[in-house]
Amino acid sequence: KLMPREAWGSRLGLILAMAGNAVGLGNFLRFPVQAVQNGGGAFIFPYLICFLLMGIPLLFIEWSSGRYGGKFNNHSTPYIMDGMGNSKVWKYVGVFGIFTNIAVVAYYTYIESWSLVYILHSVVGTFKGLSQAEVAVFFNDYVGELSSYTWFPFETVFFYVLVLSLNIYILSKGLGGIEKVAKIGMPLLILFGVILAFRGLTLGESGKSDLFPDANAWDGLNFLWTPQFDSLTNPKVWLAAAGQIFFTLSVGMGTIQCYAAFIKANEDIALNAVSAGFMNEFVEVVLGSSIVIPIAAGYLGLDWVLKNAGFGMAFQTMPFLFQQWGETAAAFAGVLWFGLLFFAGITSSLAMGTPWMSFMKDEFGWGRNKGAWSFGMLALTMGLPTVLLYQFGVFDEYDYWAGTVSLVIFALLESVLFSWVFGIDKGWNEINEGSDIKIPQVYKFIIKYVTPLLLLFVFIGALISPYQNEWAENISSIMNGGNWVLDNSSIIKNISNFGLKEQFLLAHTDKEKSFIQDKIFY
Ligand code: PHE
Ligand code: NA
Repeated sequence: KLMPREAWGSRLGLILAMAGNAVGLGNFLRFPVQAVQNGGGAFIFPYLICFLLMGIPLLFIEWSSGRYGGKFNNHSTPYIMDGMGNSKVWKYVGVFGIFTNIAVVAYYTYIESWSLVYILHSVVGTFKGLSQAEVAVFFNDYVGELSSYTWFPFETVFFYVLVLSLNIYILSKGLGGIEKVAKIGMPLLILFGVILAFRGLTLGESGKSDLFPDANAWDGLNFLWTPQFDSLTNPKVWLAAAGQIFFTLSVGMGTIQCYAAFIKANEDIALNAVSAGFMNEFVEVVLGSSIVIPIAAGYLGLDWVLKNAGFGMAFQTMPFLFQQWGETAAAFAGVLWFGLLFFAGITSSLAMGTPWMSFMKDEFGWGRNKGAWSFGMLALTMGLPTVLLYQFGVFDEYDYWAGTVSLVIFALLESVLFSWVFGIDKGWNEINEGSDIKIPQVYKFIIKYVTPLLLLFVFIGALISPYQNEWAENISSIMNGGNWVLDNSSIIKNISNFGLKEQFLLAHTDKEKSFIQDKIFY
């Protein structure tokens, strides 16, 4: 049974959809925080090196694998990867590329729903005259952090379901729907970002007042952009940089392959992949670092930023700082900022819906309505725990396993499949077929050796990260017959403690608590 083959409407539509896939909440919420927490200017070099040696190669691998699969009418990673290797195992590896998306989309759409709600609250002036603490309380109330079990967060669940429904609706319209959203959302996102970045870059010391002494936006920018080389030997910084490159480029998730499977066999992928990748980097490195950090540093000072850098800044601090610009400007800035986040979010969550839909198509011949609805129901089932049990860290748990660990494993395996099983010569031909640019030959070598090796290092590093990332201390410790103390972020430790944290939080008596605590592996 052959269904009519879908294809992208235009090259511009494809590039914007792919850029929309990559440009997401990661660019505005995750990048600045990672950069600050990893030493600002010390983060940038490892980050750029990871972009060139892992990011770009993985983009080439995923775009070309996807288009290759599309030639056989395969559109999901299990089928695409199955067609590239002889062993059945690759089909199961490909399943990674479906479930990570469902787990990530569950919390990703939750943040999208916050953005939507915050647009509305900015317009109606909810944050007017609130102190910073009050803005933070508003957020905590919204996510139910102060709630008890008897409380049901109707507004929160309503907007979550609304955003999911919007995603389902657009996905049910097929590629055309995704293209349309990208063509509207991406230009607006960039426009909004440029306006806010201009404010961030020109704020200077204008934040200085009785309320905000000694603050300067330039401190934030200098901190981010003064290169420092001392951290080049720190594995922690490298792991963080690699993790950010993965997340921000959407590699290791299977979404790029799905989108690329709809590219016609003789059409360019090399230039398209590089264009979408660089567009993401522009939005991340230029716009992503010119908004939250300088504005927060401009009012609250760099020290405050260093101490409070976190995901909460976007929702707990920005609406308060916007108030300093006066009522109308604050409403306007709120719409720009949360509108930008909403567009960044939805163009990415749509991408996360396609792997499931394509797999249902490949495996059972499902059409896009059935595919989109079943995806929405799955996302809802996974997402409700995030919404209702936010304060128990369900969100972080998903992000750790689906948004971090599984990307690295999947990317490592797919790079081995591409270069060593499918074969680098065939792979290189796939990448260059129909290409509008000449890729430097050195990338053939990088894809074959450097990328898989780096991925292996990243994986091992994540497996055994030592306590507080004190690598040097732990290495000398085991050389002297001592112990290797694992960090809370190490994969080994997280596997052995799986579920115990939740059990601990739900335990009622002290006896139960101490019983569970004894089982937790430190
Ligand atoms: N790249 C997106 C971001 O930066 C996240 C994402 C990951 C989107 C994987 C799709 C697939 O936010
Ligand atoms: Na991104």
